[in-house]
Amino acid sequence: MYKPHPLVNHEDEVENASDRNMQRGNVHALQMFLLTTFLLLFLAGSVFHPKPFALKSKELPHDDTKYDCNITLVESIPIGLNYTPNSPKFMSTIEAWQQLLDLSKTSLDIGSFYWTMRGEDVGINESSAKPGEEIFQRMLDNGKDIGSKIKIRIAQSSPSSVSPNMDTKLLSSFGAAEVVTLDFPKYFGSGILHTKLWIVDGKHFYLGSANMDWRALTQIKEMGVLGQNCPQLTTDLAKIFKAYWYLGSNPNARVPNSWPYEYKTIYNSEQPMLLNVNGAFIMQAYASSSPPPLSADGRTHDLDAILNTINAALKFVHIAVMDYYPLTMFESRIKYWSAIDNALRTAAVERGVAVKMLISWWKHSDKSMDNYLRSLQDLTMSHRHVDIQIRHFIVPADQNQERIPYARVNHNKYMVTDRVAYIGTSNWSGDYFETTAGVGLVLKDTLPAMSDSIRKDLEGVFDRDWNSTYAHILI
Ligand SMILES: *[C@@H]1O[C@H](CO)[C@@H](O)[C@H](O)[C@H]1NC(C)=O
Ligand SMILES: *[C@@H]1O[C@H](CO)[C@@H](O)[C@H](O)[C@H]1NC(C)=O
Ligand SMILES: *[C@@H]1O[C@H](CO)[C@@H](O)[C@H](O)[C@H]1NC(C)=O
Ligand SMILES: *[C@@H]1O[C@H](CO)[C@@H](O)[C@H](O)[C@H]1NC(C)=O
Repeated sequence: MYKPHPLVNHEDEVENASDRNMQRGNVHALQMFLLTTFLLLFLAGSVFHPKPFALKSKELPHDDTKYDCNITLVESIPIGLNYTPNSPKFMSTIEAWQQLLDLSKTSLDIGSFYWTMRGEDVGINESSAKPGEEIFQRMLDNGKDIGSKIKIRIAQSSPSSVSPNMDTKLLSSFGAAEVVTLDFPKYFGSGILHTKLWIVDGKHFYLGSANMDWRALTQIKEMGVLGQNCPQLTTDLAKIFKAYWYLGSNPNARVPNSWPYEYKTIYNSEQPMLLNVNGAFIMQAYASSSPPPLSADGRTHDLDAILNTINAALKFVHIAVMDYYPLTMFESRIKYWSAIDNALRTAAVERGVAVKMLISWWKHSDKSMDNYLRSLQDLTMSHRHVDIQIRHFIVPADQNQERIPYARVNHNKYMVTDRVAYIGTSNWSGDYFETTAGVGLVLKDTLPAMSDSIRKDLEGVFDRDWNSTYAHILI
């Protein structure tokens, strides 16, 4: 007769109701409850909302409010990696996370892959583990002091023998945090929670490539964004965390066919949110999410955010990702997966868009990646306007750094074009968009050639890295 969710925003009653709905509880009580809630909301709604309020997301009025939001790029530059003086430099991930802990008054939600914030988690005594250990200690101390306690909630991927997640066991046994685990193979047959997202007090956030790993602060190259005093965008990102929390906190939970109202968004690639960034310039913004079944209505899929960005580029597409494969690789047989590859070839061949790709190379890299990359680069000069260039970014390591497992790598996952900055958490291969959870943030210039914008900052980072001594031409 009526649908419980598409009623009115942010009503706790509706939220509880749809959660119950998903758990298929006492249907009769639920119906009575919903009917009462509906009537109450209807009465309230007819007083405060003279317009019909049961709108589908497509029919929602365009929100052209400009919301204040302070955003800065956040990087980890591994110890010993040096750029020429006057190179672009941004806030460190250490500083960003410390700042988020300083700011947090009521809540901290973290969507994470695995946790190794202490040297001993990787069986190593390393002074460069200190910043990670300090941040971890601050979280652990949250268990002690009841007076100033904040609510920390952590959603993590299933622990494995490689990542037993000792840190989150500690946090939860000290009463410092509530921890839930998401079992992706149960939902999708394979995959992981690969997101790296912090939400603080519903108004500040971190999103980027840095895992909850001390190495992500000092030994691995990372790119992310810090949002401060940014309630609208943070509230929208929190809806993605909310889906992880729902799945992780209900042992029998399955991914619903359709997510309830409170998970839905009106901000996406068609109708981005307008942000007044740092009080200085206006940008369009939206958050994307993968895999598609975790997205409620209105949410742009992470892959579509990437494809739309490439397809809309007029002059250039600069990509910095750790791994690039036009394949799905996590299933038992590899499959050719050409979505991004096709978009890049089309941009270069049909529109003369100059493509540059900075791909990581480290001791764990697979040589087959270069075959796929070379096949892209080989198109260069097939016609005079076709220009695809690829470089490997290699983080150097001295003997001591060499001993640190799974460190010394460029772990960035971003793209910058003549109009858009995209910062994500996923490698660019099919699995990350089909079965693995990740998030992306798209920030678009509102005018051509803006001299000051986050996009411009990111362009500067790419140029710095591309022209650095750590970038090696692919041959
Ligand atoms: C780690 O190294 C420091 C200094 O090199 C030393 O003081 C400390 O005792 C070591 N800790 C462990 C657990 O080995
Ligand atoms: C945002 O950043 C600007 C520029 O750095 C600063 O002047 C302003 O106080 C900040 N606003 C908030 C609300 O944090
Ligand atoms: C993708 O990224 C992760 C870390 O974020 C890395 O460990 C992994 O090997 C990468 N490559 C693939 C193909 O999954
Ligand atoms: C560095 O690289 C970029 C490509 O990202 C190029 O367009 C730019 O001109 C280069 N800058 C310098 C100073 O060499």
